[in-house]
Amino acid sequence: MDLDLLETAFAAVRAHQPGVRAAGALILGSGWGDVAEAFAAFAEIPYAEIPGLGAAGVAGHAGRLLLVGPAERTLLIFQGRRHWYEGEGWTPIAAPIYIARRLGAAVVLLTNAAGGIREDLRAGDLMIVCDHINAMGVHPLIGPHRPFWGPRFPDQTAVYDPALRARLRAAAEAAGISIREGVYLAASGPTYETPAEVEAFRRVGADAVGMSTVPEAILAHAAGLRVAAVSCISNLAAGRASAPLSHEEVAEAARAAMPRLRALVVRWWADRPEVSP
Ligand code: HPA
Repeated sequence: MDLDLLETAFAAVRAHQPGVRAAGALILGSGWGDVAEAFAAFAEIPYAEIPGLGAAGVAGHAGRLLLVGPAERTLLIFQGRRHWYEGEGWTPIAAPIYIARRLGAAVVLLTNAAGGIREDLRAGDLMIVCDHINAMGVHPLIGPHRPFWGPRFPDQTAVYDPALRARLRAAAEAAGISIREGVYLAASGPTYETPAEVEAFRRVGADAVGMSTVPEAILAHAAGLRVAAVSCISNLAAGRASAPLSHEEVAEAARAAMPRLRALVVRWWADRPEVSP
């Protein structure tokens, strides 16, 4: 990971919006992009103009940073995420977290689409991530120790902030949305899993599987942000359904759930999650 490039990324946002202070950040993953339409942004910066973040290479990931006011407690909406499987290393994945932290953000909400492993999970369900399993075979903090990312060996007992999870549950309830909780397992991708892998993941305690979120959660937590994450279960994980998986199916399921995704996020932010409970 290139910390100098990350600082340049932050400086680019700062130069675009001098004086702006962030209260929180929202990373919109597969299928979640249109949640941004629920917010009136006062500025918009294409990822291509942010060194180190670069253009998002995955269909359905818009690739722009939206800033939602007020300027002294801005919500940074990263519309589209970068993934490890894109092969460009950790810098593009770390950039939103780094920028958010440098702008003063206290909380981050990570969103994704995921395959449902646990029996009760169905396409369209929402799941608050209560813990994760990193099965990517890589780790974003490997390399020289950088104090920006906390201690050399960060504790992982509560990566997903219990108070933020409670706020998400309350937001869901207030919006009349049913929501579950579970353990998210990150695989590297870009293949979807084999049925045997899904069965193995189930046995080790995974409830849902995806190709993102865990690196950002590790980094954000290490950098001192409070972290929350929500999965939209877009499909039954491989082997639970007979049809082959496709990215279109994944994106479509999240789009179908859009009114609930939007309502949840809007409510969550309106309740000022950056303020301690
Ligand atoms: N596996 C991995 N990643 C995913 C899936 C899945 O089934 N669905 C959405 N993202």
